[in-house]
Amino acid sequence: MAKRGNFSSKIGFVAAAAGSAVGLGNIWKFPFEVGKGGGAAFLVMYLIFCFIFCFPVLVTELAIGRKTGKNPDGAFKSLGFRNWSFVGKLGVITGVLILSFYNVVAGWAFGYFVEIVCGNFEIGGQFTDFIKDVVKVGGYGLIFMAATALIVSRGVSSGIERAAKILMPVLIIIIVSLIVYSLTLPNAMKGIEFYLIPNFSAITPEVVYTALSHAFFSLSLGMGALITYGSYVSKSENLITSAALITLADIGIAFIAGLMMFPFVFSQGIAPDGGAGLIFITLPGVFESLGSVTGVIVGGLFFLLLSFAALTSTVSLLEVPVSYTVDEHNIPRKKATWLVALVIYIIGIPSLLSNGASGFFSSFISYFGSDAPKSFMTVVEDFSINTFLPLGGLLMSIFVAYVWKKENLNKELETGAPNFKGSFVEKYIDVAIRYICPIFLGALFILTVLEKFFSVSIF
Ligand code: PFF
Repeated sequence: MAKRGNFSSKIGFVAAAAGSAVGLGNIWKFPFEVGKGGGAAFLVMYLIFCFIFCFPVLVTELAIGRKTGKNPDGAFKSLGFRNWSFVGKLGVITGVLILSFYNVVAGWAFGYFVEIVCGNFEIGGQFTDFIKDVVKVGGYGLIFMAATALIVSRGVSSGIERAAKILMPVLIIIIVSLIVYSLTLPNAMKGIEFYLIPNFSAITPEVVYTALSHAFFSLSLGMGALITYGSYVSKSENLITSAALITLADIGIAFIAGLMMFPFVFSQGIAPDGGAGLIFITLPGVFESLGSVTGVIVGGLFFLLLSFAALTSTVSLLEVPVSYTVDEHNIPRKKATWLVALVIYIIGIPSLLSNGASGFFSSFISYFGSDAPKSFMTVVEDFSINTFLPLGGLLMSIFVAYVWKKENLNKELETGAPNFKGSFVEKYIDVAIRYICPIFLGALFILTVLEKFFSVSIF
């Protein structure tokens, strides 16, 4: 059996798990989903879902991981429930799918770093051409995947932990400084209003589903990434406080990313609902306005740190299929890592081509009842993020509540958390896992599939 690493300290584990959670999801995806979802209404839904559904699922993923010391597939088997290992396998597949296109976007972020450092502030206006440039974006993606594989191949404690511990605080400082700057711009307050004052009539079923799947995606939940990270955590760790810190760090960074973006978006008169290009189109102009030297420094640093935030997430995405390959197929870690990374890079090529470079992949398919064609990348996103993650969360909550059972979960959670027994959190997790998650996640899952893939809307 290949040897498993361990996180060396509490702060190291929380930093690595928070590093997994904080990534493109918070800084790239969250603001544009808020923009598309009508502003504060989306923010409110997202916050509610993080606390109600995601926190309990996060705790249970960590508990399953630490109890078994296994990857998601092996974890279910090791608890004695072979029939449930399909949930782990679904997680491994979801991880592969997500990483295949996440790496493409990470390549954009890294490419923007290079462009801004070279003084090309015009890149904001050239976004659609940039993402079509297969050689550039493919090359940046390759560098990114190789960097991810290098960290993963060195094992959890030396690679993942160290990177996460240093970079997150610097990223926060940059974002907060940009918020302060953004508030001095004309129309900044319109952006703040859009972001913070909810217009509840903007809540459509689509907004609800997107906020739900985004909450799972943002916290790296539903595919066993945190089962995998949990498998490296020591028994003396308090999983509840760790989960709380991870959740707060993730929500906090998403929140400040939004606070930074909307004043910029409104001050430049850009439509907030423009989609995936939002930060890439808006920010270069902001950096240019800082003057050429400051702009290069702040802008370069911003996209560099965004790339690092993405890197601590791609590391955890790759770690899931790699730990599966190492544990279940007994392949040495180094070999497994490079092999899996290569396969995922190849699977990502159609996504890379689907942003304008290839007509076939850019207008790949239309779902039933809709004639708007979707790009290959959107289809992969729809399956992985919008469908499989909430489904994974649903299945995990059913598994823990009705198969593995509350007593076993609680026993694992009490280890390292002396005050857990009899606490409010214990009761909350119990009710959430037994009733709230199965009922609401189940209902939302069915509604999402009907609406997304079959254009059937019940509400
Ligand atoms: N949470 C990451 C982000 O917000 O960018 C994305 C992610 C990482 C999702 C790891 C799932 C995962 F397992």
